[in-house]
Amino acid sequence: MIGKKIQDAFNKQINEELASAYLYLSMEAYFHSEGLEGMAHWMRLQTQEEIAHAMKFFNFIHERGGTVKLQTISADLHKNWKSPLEIFQASYQHEQHITACINDLVKLSKEEEDYPASVFLQWFVTEQVEEEANTSQVVQMLERVGDSGNGIYMVDQALGRRGA
Ligand SMILES: [Fe+2]
Ligand SMILES: [Fe+2]
Repeated sequence: MIGKKIQDAFNKQINEELASAYLYLSMEAYFHSEGLEGMAHWMRLQTQEEIAHAMKFFNFIHERGGTVKLQTISADLHKNWKSPLEIFQASYQHEQHITACINDLVKLSKEEEDYPASVFLQWFVTEQVEEEANTSQVVQMLERVGDSGNGIYMVDQALGRRGA
Protein backbone atom coordinates (compact mmCIF):
# COMPACT_ATOMS: atom_id res chain seq x y z
CA MET A 1 0.00 0.00 0.00
CA ILE A 2 1.25 3.42 -0.94
CA GLY A 3 1.51 6.09 1.80
CA LYS A 4 -0.46 9.31 1.48
CA LYS A 5 2.59 11.58 1.20
CA ILE A 6 4.09 9.55 -1.65
CA GLN A 7 0.70 9.20 -3.33
CA ASP A 8 0.16 12.99 -3.25
CA ALA A 9 3.68 13.68 -4.50
CA PHE A 10 3.36 11.11 -7.30
CA ASN A 11 0.00 12.57 -8.34
CA LYS A 12 1.69 15.96 -8.52
CA GLN A 13 4.43 14.43 -10.68
CA ILE A 14 1.81 13.02 -13.10
CA ASN A 15 0.73 16.63 -13.52
CA GLU A 16 4.34 17.81 -14.02
CA GLU A 17 4.90 15.20 -16.73
CA LEU A 18 1.64 16.00 -18.53
CA ALA A 19 2.43 19.74 -18.27
CA SER A 20 5.79 18.89 -19.89
CA ALA A 21 3.93 17.15 -22.72
CA TYR A 22 1.73 20.21 -23.13
CA LEU A 23 4.79 22.49 -23.18
CA TYR A 24 6.52 20.41 -25.88
CA LEU A 25 3.30 20.28 -27.87
CA SER A 26 3.17 24.10 -27.93
CA MET A 27 6.74 24.01 -29.22
CA GLU A 28 5.84 21.50 -31.92
CA ALA A 29 3.03 23.81 -33.07
CA TYR A 30 5.52 26.67 -33.43
CA PHE A 31 7.90 24.52 -35.51
CA HIS A 32 5.09 23.47 -37.87
CA SER A 33 4.14 27.13 -38.33
CA GLU A 34 7.77 27.87 -39.25
CA GLY A 35 8.09 24.89 -41.62
CA LEU A 36 10.76 23.33 -39.39
CA GLU A 37 9.42 19.80 -39.69
CA GLY A 38 12.49 18.07 -38.29
CA MET A 39 12.27 20.04 -35.04
CA ALA A 40 8.49 19.47 -35.00
CA HIS A 41 9.14 15.72 -35.27
CA TRP A 42 11.65 15.90 -32.39
CA MET A 43 9.06 17.67 -30.23
CA ARG A 44 6.35 15.13 -31.13
CA LEU A 45 8.55 12.33 -29.82
CA GLN A 46 9.38 14.41 -26.75
CA THR A 47 5.66 14.94 -26.03
CA GLN A 48 5.01 11.19 -26.37
CA GLU A 49 7.90 10.49 -24.00
CA GLU A 50 6.45 12.82 -21.37
CA ILE A 51 3.04 11.12 -21.60
CA ALA A 52 4.83 7.77 -21.13
CA HIS A 53 6.54 9.23 -18.01
CA ALA A 54 3.16 10.31 -16.61
CA MET A 55 1.79 6.81 -17.27
CA LYS A 56 4.66 5.19 -15.35
CA PHE A 57 3.62 7.17 -12.24
CA PHE A 58 -0.06 6.46 -13.00
CA ASN A 59 0.59 2.69 -13.15
CA PHE A 60 2.81 2.69 -10.07
CA ILE A 61 0.13 4.39 -7.94
CA HIS A 62 -2.41 1.77 -9.01
CA GLU A 63 -0.04 -1.15 -8.52
CA ARG A 64 0.51 0.03 -4.94
CA GLY A 65 -3.22 0.20 -4.25
CA GLY A 66 -3.35 4.00 -4.38
CA THR A 67 -5.69 6.49 -6.01
CA VAL A 68 -4.80 8.64 -9.01
CA LYS A 69 -6.09 12.21 -8.77
CA LEU A 70 -5.67 14.18 -11.97
CA GLN A 71 -5.13 17.91 -11.58
CA THR A 72 -5.53 20.91 -13.87
CA ILE A 73 -2.69 21.39 -16.32
CA SER A 74 -1.23 24.88 -16.15
CA ALA A 75 -1.29 26.83 -19.41
CA ASP A 76 1.35 29.28 -18.14
CA LEU A 77 3.96 27.24 -19.97
CA HIS A 78 2.29 28.04 -23.25
CA LYS A 79 4.21 30.97 -24.67
CA ASN A 80 4.46 32.78 -27.95
CA TRP A 81 7.66 31.14 -29.07
CA LYS A 82 10.03 33.29 -31.09
CA SER A 83 12.98 31.17 -32.20
CA PRO A 84 14.37 27.61 -32.11
CA LEU A 85 17.14 28.76 -29.74
CA GLU A 86 14.63 30.29 -27.30
CA ILE A 87 12.61 27.07 -27.42
CA PHE A 88 15.52 24.73 -26.74
CA GLN A 89 16.84 26.99 -23.98
CA ALA A 90 13.38 26.82 -22.39
CA SER A 91 13.38 23.01 -22.85
CA TYR A 92 16.75 22.69 -21.13
CA GLN A 93 15.58 24.91 -18.25
CA HIS A 94 12.37 22.91 -18.00
CA GLU A 95 14.27 19.62 -17.82
CA GLN A 96 16.41 21.04 -15.01
CA HIS A 97 13.18 21.86 -13.17
CA ILE A 98 11.94 18.29 -13.69
CA THR A 99 15.26 16.91 -12.42
CA ALA A 100 14.76 18.95 -9.23
CA CYS A 101 11.22 17.48 -8.89
CA ILE A 102 12.57 13.93 -9.28
CA ASN A 103 15.35 14.58 -6.76
CA ASP A 104 12.75 15.85 -4.25
CA LEU A 105 10.74 12.67 -4.80
CA VAL A 106 13.82 10.51 -4.18
CA LYS A 107 14.44 12.42 -0.95
CA LEU A 108 10.82 11.98 0.15
CA SER A 109 10.87 8.24 -0.65
CA LYS A 110 13.92 7.84 1.60
CA GLU A 111 12.34 9.89 4.40
CA GLU A 112 9.19 7.79 4.13
CA GLU A 113 11.27 4.60 3.91
CA ASP A 114 9.28 3.64 0.81
CA TYR A 115 11.85 1.38 -0.86
CA PRO A 116 9.67 0.37 -3.86
CA ALA A 117 9.21 4.07 -4.62
CA SER A 118 12.98 4.67 -4.33
CA VAL A 119 13.72 1.83 -6.74
CA PHE A 120 11.00 3.01 -9.16
CA LEU A 121 12.45 6.54 -9.14
CA GLN A 122 15.95 5.36 -10.08
CA TRP A 123 14.79 5.02 -13.71
CA PHE A 124 13.79 8.69 -13.68
CA VAL A 125 17.09 9.80 -12.13
CA THR A 126 18.92 8.19 -15.09
CA GLU A 127 16.36 9.47 -17.59
CA GLN A 128 16.81 13.07 -16.41
CA VAL A 129 20.57 12.91 -17.03
CA GLU A 130 19.71 12.01 -20.64
CA GLU A 131 16.96 14.64 -20.93
CA GLU A 132 19.30 17.43 -19.78
CA ALA A 133 22.09 16.21 -22.06
CA ASN A 134 19.82 15.99 -25.12
CA THR A 135 18.29 19.44 -24.73
CA SER A 136 21.56 21.18 -23.86
CA GLN A 137 23.21 19.56 -26.90
CA VAL A 138 20.61 21.11 -29.19
CA VAL A 139 21.09 24.50 -27.46
CA GLN A 140 24.82 24.22 -28.24
CA MET A 141 24.14 23.35 -31.88
CA LEU A 142 21.77 26.31 -32.28
CA GLU A 143 24.18 28.70 -30.55
CA ARG A 144 26.88 27.59 -32.96
CA VAL A 145 24.81 28.21 -36.11
CA GLY A 146 23.37 31.53 -34.90
CA ASP A 147 21.12 33.21 -37.49
CA SER A 148 22.50 31.21 -40.42
CA GLY A 149 19.63 29.84 -42.53
CA ASN A 150 21.83 26.98 -43.73
CA GLY A 151 22.75 26.17 -40.15
CA ILE A 152 19.12 26.13 -38.96
CA TYR A 153 18.27 23.90 -41.94
CA MET A 154 21.00 21.45 -40.98
CA VAL A 155 19.92 21.33 -37.33
CA ASP A 156 16.34 20.77 -38.51
CA GLN A 157 17.49 17.86 -40.69
CA ALA A 158 19.51 16.38 -37.82
CA LEU A 159 16.60 16.56 -35.34
CA GLY A 160 14.28 15.04 -37.95
CA ARG A 161 16.36 11.85 -37.70
CA ARG A 162 15.48 11.32 -34.03
CA GLY A 163 14.27 7.75 -33.72
CA ALA A 164 12.84 7.49 -30.21
FE1 LIG B 1 9.51 13.54 -18.10
FE1 LIG C 1 11.48 15.34 -20.06
